[in-house]
Amino acid sequence: MNIAIIGTGYVGLVTGVCFADFGHNVVCVDKDEQMISMLLDRKVPIYEPGLEDLMARNVAEGRLEFTTDISQAMNGAHAVFIAVGTPARHGDGFADLSYVYAAAEEIAQHIKEFTIVVTKSTVPVGTGDEVQAILAKHCDRAHFEVVSNPEFLREGAAIADFKEPDRVVIGTDHVQATDVMNEIYRPISLNGKPILFTSRRTSELIKYAANSFLATKIAFINEISDLCEVVNADVSEVARGIGLDSRIGSRFLQAGPGYGGSCFPKDTLALLRTAEINDVDLSIVGSVVASNDQRKINMADKVVKAMGGNVSGKRIAVLGLAFKQNTDDMRDSPALTIIPILQKAGAKIIAFDPEAMEEAKHLMSDIEYANDVYDCVEGAAAAVVITEWDVFRGLDMARIKSLLSEPNLVDLRNIYSAKSMAQLGYNYVGVGRK
Ligand code: UDX
Repeated sequence: MNIAIIGTGYVGLVTGVCFADFGHNVVCVDKDEQMISMLLDRKVPIYEPGLEDLMARNVAEGRLEFTTDISQAMNGAHAVFIAVGTPARHGDGFADLSYVYAAAEEIAQHIKEFTIVVTKSTVPVGTGDEVQAILAKHCDRAHFEVVSNPEFLREGAAIADFKEPDRVVIGTDHVQATDVMNEIYRPISLNGKPILFTSRRTSELIKYAANSFLATKIAFINEISDLCEVVNADVSEVARGIGLDSRIGSRFLQAGPGYGGSCFPKDTLALLRTAEINDVDLSIVGSVVASNDQRKINMADKVVKAMGGNVSGKRIAVLGLAFKQNTDDMRDSPALTIIPILQKAGAKIIAFDPEAMEEAKHLMSDIEYANDVYDCVEGAAAAVVITEWDVFRGLDMARIKSLLSEPNLVDLRNIYSAKSMAQLGYNYVGVGRK
């Protein structure tokens, strides 16, 4: 199959590289010349484990190209995937669809033979209809079909999620489009993974419902963790105890400082706006959003409380800034809420993150950055774990304690054993546990 991908951001790049690795011929196109020249140099502008090697291999084997020229990319393409950003619009939180519609306008200029136009970007219900209307303004209706095909990639695990997904969702009832999409995803169905065909609108909604449901699981276990702290129960064991019930499932029940990232915060808000426009009350999703916002604020209070109620003039070592491990992404990271509150309360922040420090420098001020964890904690009155990086799990905790000026350890990801930390003499505070 010949495939064009519009947009070489996170989703577009991972999709293009993985399709090429399935043996398809892929051309990725982006307006951003700097981005394309970087990719032509076989450099990946984002941090995603394994992506650079996979990209280099497919480029070398001649299946993957990059260009700024959409006509070149679409020449002979059986399918063109729109994978541009749909950020939350300022003001109302609705998904900003201007890039999607601009891509549709451009695609319309280059459709010659029958082409499938696939929306890979996360788009609200009904966007496919809009894209279809834009294309129909410029080309013969018989020459294209618009299909929805949402992505479910987790940053840091995107290649595995793409190649071995729990399912692929495809929104179309068009026979030829179904054939093309089946062919494109054949390597995945050969692996026994289900390809779910549904209507375009249903497919668009599945993406938002999935992300909102996962966000709900996290917000739920975070609330239960608050209760655990008061009634002296352990949230990890509660999560295990409920998660073993296959109706509930064990994943996404890890209590922490609140969910962040490029999807859950944005998609829950966008779903709420869609509901509002359609006069439907999604009170559960509304509560999840409010609960998660409050969660992040509460985590700053937890740090202050662990340090005896006053952090003024104190040095606090923050371990981890990214919204989760294995990414340099800071979007909606709990760190962006927690750190400014601590600074406002008079604390001096010194931080270390294996990947996200450059990004953090653009988003927060007055932070000192350390070269490694041991540098970071030296002379600090508390160490606060915000991101669950693997490298934080095996640290020499006795040495860390000797470097801290006060033995406060606030573990917002529960990556350490409370018992061992207490034995080492820490004032250890986790989430949802004694
Ligand atoms: C998510 C979805 O998982 C993915 O399917 C979708 O395509 C994009 O959005 P991502 O944002 O990359 O992926 O990360 P994910 O691993 O889902 O984590 C999101 C947030 O939830 C992070 O802040 C993470 O720390 C938090 N989280 C996740 C928890 O607090 N507890 C959990 O049990 C799981």
